[in-house]
Amino acid sequence: MSELRANFPVLHERVYLNAGTDGPLPQQAFDAAQEELARELAEGRTASHFERRGELATQLRSAYALALGAPAQDVALTTCTTEGLNIALAGLGLSANDEVLTSDEEHPGLLGALQTLHELHGVHIRMAPFESIHEQVSNATTVVVCSHVSWINGSLAPAQLASLDVPVILDGAQGVGAVAVDVTKLGVIAYAGSGQKWLCGPDGTGMLYVAPDWHEQIAATRRGYGNYENPGDGMDALLHKSAARFDTLSMNAETAAAALAATRVLAAEGWPSVFERAAALAESLATRLEQSGREVAPRDQTTLVAFSSDDPAAERERLAAAGILLRDLPNTSLLRASVGAWNDEQDIARLLAEL
Ligand SMILES: Cc1ncc(COP(=O)(O)O)c(C=O)c1O
Repeated sequence: MSELRANFPVLHERVYLNAGTDGPLPQQAFDAAQEELARELAEGRTASHFERRGELATQLRSAYALALGAPAQDVALTTCTTEGLNIALAGLGLSANDEVLTSDEEHPGLLGALQTLHELHGVHIRMAPFESIHEQVSNATTVVVCSHVSWINGSLAPAQLASLDVPVILDGAQGVGAVAVDVTKLGVIAYAGSGQKWLCGPDGTGMLYVAPDWHEQIAATRRGYGNYENPGDGMDALLHKSAARFDTLSMNAETAAAALAATRVLAAEGWPSVFERAAALAESLATRLEQSGREVAPRDQTTLVAFSSDDPAAERERLAAAGILLRDLPNTSLLRASVGAWNDEQDIARLLAEL
């Protein structure tokens, strides 16, 4: 596994525990982006450049599909989890007759989409405790949407969501790339994820899985060249049958190439060992934090470890000065460590020694 570590320059000096925000960039991602820009600089951007963008999009879609356990045709390319959630929720065409059930632990990336539904379309938004959200579905509920893995404490959404009668959408920002995901078994109509977090890609990358039965039931509310089978047909153009109909409206070659290279670094290690190693290290950190007298927020076998701090913002800054990078969680007394397969026991020991 030290070979995996060697791909990430930031790890040479620092203890990097911030993938829940943005993962460490591998050298290969930087090189791939640079190569694309160098090509654009030298050759200009004509038809062959757009062909290259198309190839990269196809390859990135397949790489993301592997991480999601989904067929590539059910995966749209987005710029972030937030965009994916907005696409899926806006496309449901909800109105004042609808209720969306969500949890009380959601990230602004989802809350923004819900606020839009409420303010622009009068949709009723109801919040329930994350751990028992499946028990709160009522006759009025049209759709359930919540995190796959809570960004606050690393607990998993209840497994019972997979067998609800109402459609479920999951925010997978802390799921895909961090824990094993098989979207086809989660029983979701849509699952949105980030490319820049646990998949170590650049900012501006992400994905949206849409279950095949829902490609046409979720309206594509924004459309452009790349979303059509035959864009040359103007107003008569037909949307792709696949989830590419939901693709973000423009993804540049350098971003796609970097994201692809990053995902390949992790895939080459083998996803099962990436997941296993990250979860085991996170568990070990949680246990040792408790032994050292810190309170660890209730969590599952995931990659996030949130723990008590008397002054989270000040402690984060002090740790950063010592080369240990993690985040504090707003409006809580918690620091959050994001543990990846690229970390090692020495990272954990360095953090504990600094606390
Ligand atoms: C649970 C959750 N949802 C959404 C987001 C937003 O992700 P993105 O920046 O990819 O939109 C984050 C992370 O920042 C998150 O933790």
